[in-house]
Amino acid sequence: MSTSPTSSTSTARSRADRITERCDLLARESAEDGKITRLYGTPELRAARDLLQGWMRAAGMTTRIDHAGNLIGRYEAASTVADAKTFIIGGHWDSVRDAGRYDGTLGVLSGIAAVEGLQEAGSRLDVAIEVMAFADEEGVRFHTAFLGSSPVAGSFDPAWLAMTDDEGITLGEAILEFGGDPDRLVDDALDPDDVLGFIEVHIEQGPVLQDRDVPVAVVTGITGSARAEIEFTGIAGHAGTIPMTLRRDALTGSAELILAVERVGRSVEGLVATVGKLEAEPGASNVVAGHTRQTLDLRHPDPDVRARAIDELNEVVREIGERRSLEAVWHDSPGFAETPSDPALNQALRDAIEGEGYPVVELFSGAGHDAVTMAAITPVTMMFVRCKDGISHNPAESVTVDDVAAAIAVLDRLLGSIASTAATAKV
Ligand code: GLV
Ligand code: MN
Ligand code: MN
Repeated sequence: MSTSPTSSTSTARSRADRITERCDLLARESAEDGKITRLYGTPELRAARDLLQGWMRAAGMTTRIDHAGNLIGRYEAASTVADAKTFIIGGHWDSVRDAGRYDGTLGVLSGIAAVEGLQEAGSRLDVAIEVMAFADEEGVRFHTAFLGSSPVAGSFDPAWLAMTDDEGITLGEAILEFGGDPDRLVDDALDPDDVLGFIEVHIEQGPVLQDRDVPVAVVTGITGSARAEIEFTGIAGHAGTIPMTLRRDALTGSAELILAVERVGRSVEGLVATVGKLEAEPGASNVVAGHTRQTLDLRHPDPDVRARAIDELNEVVREIGERRSLEAVWHDSPGFAETPSDPALNQALRDAIEGEGYPVVELFSGAGHDAVTMAAITPVTMMFVRCKDGISHNPAESVTVDDVAAAIAVLDRLLGSIASTAATAKV
């Protein structure tokens, strides 16, 4: 079914144009020439944050940066409203390596665009709006997702400060370097009583909306994940002189494990399991690998399914180690629990989508999002935006200005209805 924008999308259209231009500008702030790579705590993350902060201020927001390095823009409620609560529009501006330009940034820029709409109309709502740009959602540098939103949601575990990146720099050191005080992350936590709800606008990262020819969708929930790092240690040695039968080759152990992860992932409907990173040392073509480290990312909405799969893979790791005479060590990394969206907020989002003349499509997210952490303190939902061929975590990520305009028009309408519900509740 094809969809046609209504009159309110015409003002949204110019803001959508600006969003895609800004995504292009943010894409230039990167660690790698010709690629988008912005990891937590880096100079390029800071440079992109400066851009976002300038746009927030130009939209009439006051801004603050918390100890984790998150950037928060605030647009106050109407002055006539006493004790106004805050509705949060979130997103992140860190990226995976060689990323696309919309994952995360679309959420932050949509929030700024929503406030620009209010500013242009000279209007203030009965709720304050905060646009929260999270400094780390992808978790690439420290192999742990949501390092930006977890302090905000009060769920940061201080033990994580000792986690190290590939250079051996701890998270605590990275936070200091980024301008925050790791001992004061608790100060970043919001008071749940002040917050009315949270939404993130995000590219779908899947092909359903393209298939259905619809620009946006309501997200009903987010899957749960388990993560781990597995190390095999054998003996490095000469590739020409050690007979095949006498080797303790860590990399062949890893190769077996990668295939076992694929087999387990395929064994249950809806389960996905990935080894996305493998390091072998010493790393030379004529040396048998003595040591490997590999990641595991495993996702399913049912915690029992995840637990059974993790148990099975633990046993596989133990068995490979024993049979190949390798020392095998399994390190659990923080995962996240499955998270349903809030029913009332989702109904408001469905109404807003219908109000803009679009059919309501409901999707479940296989990707993780900051709504997972924020759900601990406030009702959450998400709106997905169609992306070309469902491609994401890839430089080929692509959205149309028309679809972004549709999302902005829906977001405008949603904010209006949230504000009027808040006003009615006070009467
Ligand atoms: C984030 O994009 C994730 O799902 O890992
Ligand atoms: Mn994202
Ligand atoms: Mn992502």
